[in-house]
Amino acid sequence: MTDAFHLADEAALMAWGARLAPLLRAGDCIALSGGLGAGKTTLARGVLRGLDYHGDVPSPSFALLQAYEPPDVPLPLAHVDLYRVDDPSELAELGLDEWRGSGILMVEWPERLGPTFLAQALAVQLDFAADGGRDLTARVPEGWTARWPFL
Ligand SMILES: Nc1ncnc2c1ncn2[C@@H]1O[C@H](COP(=O)(O)OP(=O)(O)OP(=O)(O)O)[C@@H](O)[C@H]1O
Ligand SMILES: [Mg+2]
Repeated sequence: MTDAFHLADEAALMAWGARLAPLLRAGDCIALSGGLGAGKTTLARGVLRGLDYHGDVPSPSFALLQAYEPPDVPLPLAHVDLYRVDDPSELAELGLDEWRGSGILMVEWPERLGPTFLAQALAVQLDFAADGGRDLTARVPEGWTARWPFL
């Protein structure tokens, strides 16, 4: 199942992420696709805001993985950017399986994850809309349909 939304501005995209936040459970992976500047990090910021996290949410472009852990958030959460990861050993070093085992993964440039990981992910695609906002398409996997629609 897929679902589509139009987010007119940054605040609307943040709010979408914040409304998704309370639905998240340990084991969830959110795959964030879209070009440079499409709003992947913005959406992750919204999710963290929705989890009542009020600290900085830096882009993980350079660190590759930003970790958020209790008591700052209800569950461990890793915000990952795989744009610069092209070596499988580098990917392995991030320990994404362990993160997903105990908490939540949000992954920018998730194409590098491989198909088995992606099959179970909530796949969010962000595209630039003609009006300057963003079009969001969510591919909702089976494990998620009972939690949908949420808006
Ligand atoms: N719904 C929206 N409408 C218009 N502009 C938006 C919207 N959401 C976010 N933006 C703006 O677009 C930019 C998105 O930047 P962001 O860092 O979130 O993108 P990204 O997809 O993570 O990029 P990268 O691939 O470089 O990591 C920001 O400047 C933000 O203000
Ligand atoms: Mg980003």
